[in-house]
Amino acid sequence: MDMKPGLEGVAAAETKISLVDGERGRLIYRGHRAEDLARTRSPEEVAFLLWNGTLPDPDEREAVRRQWAGARVLPGYLKGLIAAIPREVQMTDVLRTAVSAMGDASFEGPPTPEQAIRIAALLPSIIAFRRHHLAGTEPPAPRPDLSHVAHYLYLLRGEVPSPAHVRALEAYFVLTAEHGMNASTFAARVVTSTRSDLISAVVAAIGALKGPLHGGAPAGVESMLDEIGTEERIKPWIRERLERNERLMGFGHRIYRTEDPRAAALREIAVRLAAGEPWLSLAVRVEEEALRLLEEYKPGRRIRTNVEYYAAALFRAVGLPRELFTPTFICSRIVGWAAHAMEQAEHNRLIRPDAVYIGPLPD
Ligand code: SDX
Repeated sequence: MDMKPGLEGVAAAETKISLVDGERGRLIYRGHRAEDLARTRSPEEVAFLLWNGTLPDPDEREAVRRQWAGARVLPGYLKGLIAAIPREVQMTDVLRTAVSAMGDASFEGPPTPEQAIRIAALLPSIIAFRRHHLAGTEPPAPRPDLSHVAHYLYLLRGEVPSPAHVRALEAYFVLTAEHGMNASTFAARVVTSTRSDLISAVVAAIGALKGPLHGGAPAGVESMLDEIGTEERIKPWIRERLERNERLMGFGHRIYRTEDPRAAALREIAVRLAAGEPWLSLAVRVEEEALRLLEEYKPGRRIRTNVEYYAAALFRAVGLPRELFTPTFICSRIVGWAAHAMEQAEHNRLIRPDAVYIGPLPD
């Protein structure tokens, strides 16, 4: 039996949801280039595409908008639970706990788009309620006229966000909605393969995404940029980490052997939003030096910029605090987790690999 560490190079399923093409640097959602969808469609429409296989027609689009807007109100018991969680608990853990508490009989059985909308639409409300609770402020009244992402920023700030910020964050939501068999999506599929429910699958996926090797990276990118601070410190800072074989957050990928197409799209948006900002100029210079030094220290590994590097820049450009970087990634990736849970449930076979025993045997 051959063992593949980290299941590298192992295909665990056939999927119609997305193609992550590591050699050509392509990301295709149900036949559409993700970057094109990020320019032309809303996150709600792309969720419909990923869950149903086609983009919504005009009637379906209006129904989808109403469904998402109608699923945002936080029930009283969840407000009480969120308020009771100790203040030092980080937002990703609050999300995981609150989603877990949503589980009731209505989520039993195979996952559906309706179940997925109920979770996805509520995540920003959970985040905003928690932020206001900790700050001792009142969240603003719901605004059903606002889109999903506009409402997220509105809830956080108490004012309607600029169209530029909404479009930038909507593009982020579309570009990071889905990414094939990444660790958190695989976790969701494993849970679904036992015929468990969507809430359990999403809770498992949140736990996986939290890790710094996966969705925890954007905060690490911003910490790196803050620690470097100046042009003069770029090379010595990076060299010191690479000498210690430490990972640079925002670089490298298990699949992409060329630039992550999402990084290119997010770079363009971040540069457009924050042109002239000193921190952005530093970020671009750090990227240049990091790629050069990664080639020097890891020749032939083809370690390139990944989605998280410019996700951190875009978050900073729209004014999201570092504590909300990973929680915001959860708000977008819930779409891909649910799509794969639905697909797993369709052709279900228990996911149960083997292991090579290397321990002692009885005499
Ligand atoms: C995401 O899977 C997905 O699709 C994930 C994602 C999605 O949308 O779901 O794309 C989102 O998680 C992006 C990745 C975010 N994580 C980071 O930016 C953290 C830094 N990146 C690395 O930890 C790493 O690149 C991984 C985890 C992303 C990928 O790791 P692999 O494929 O398991 O590669 P590896 O860890 O085995 O490294 C192979 C070699 C090693 O050198 P050697 O020890 O063999 O000499 O490459 C080196 C590593 O040291 N390497 C790096 C590096 N990434 C790999 N060295 C320095 N900095 C890095 N970032």
